[in-house]
Amino acid sequence: MKLTLKVWRQKNATAKGSIVTYPIDGIDGDMSFLEMMDVLNNKLINEGEEPVTFDHDCREGICGSCSMFINGEAHGPDRLVTTCQLHMRKFKDGDTITIEPFRAAGFPVIKDLMVDRSSFDRIQHAGGFISVNTSGNTQDANSIPIEKENADDAFAAATCIGCGACVASCKNSSAMLFVGAKVSQFALLPQGEVEATTRVLNMVKQMDEEGFGNCTNTGACEVECPKGISLENIARMNREYLSASLKG
Ligand code: SF4
Ligand code: FES
Repeated sequence: MKLTLKVWRQKNATAKGSIVTYPIDGIDGDMSFLEMMDVLNNKLINEGEEPVTFDHDCREGICGSCSMFINGEAHGPDRLVTTCQLHMRKFKDGDTITIEPFRAAGFPVIKDLMVDRSSFDRIQHAGGFISVNTSGNTQDANSIPIEKENADDAFAAATCIGCGACVASCKNSSAMLFVGAKVSQFALLPQGEVEATTRVLNMVKQMDEEGFGNCTNTGACEVECPKGISLENIARMNREYLSASLKG
């Protein structure tokens, strides 16, 4: 396949970026999108140019780092896949593909397609954990009965990989699907009850401090989320927040 790539190039966080056009040839439909980017970078290196900087790690849809905008969509045209799992067979010979970084105040561009998503880490550190008493008397986890529906919903929420597609696809740059998932995975389990009040208050406070917008229920986040995280998690977070606020 021959393609025309229009890639956002930006030298550093303060530089003014622009779209640069690169023709590319020999792309196989079985390649992943990141393998196609590798081909581009090899070509650029061979031509003495600087390769395009982009984040990637697992290339298995687990780490959430391969975040980029492809033809105006977070992770590209396929549903429920990350960029590393997107195959080039989704494109046609002769296509033009525009590739840009995620754009949100909470995700400043570091270079080219790489953005700083440490805001998500700070939100997680604000309360996205449970304390475990390791005094030696810890109850066996399997002895605590948990309703199947709650276990399933908690597991579904825990599949959020922190990629930030929800933020990038939201017109308000809201991080509420991410935070909702991280609150929900503990709110539904007895182990999460101990810190339930402080968790939601602290995580929402940190989310606001990081410059993310509010949710106006447009649902773009749910559509673009590669892990199918449901809007129900935002509703649960709002209920948790209201209840925690009333407790003071
Ligand atoms: S909720 Fe979905 S889109 Fe948002 S960070 Fe988690 S996995 Fe990514
Ligand atoms: S590189 Fe890890 S999810 Fe894509």
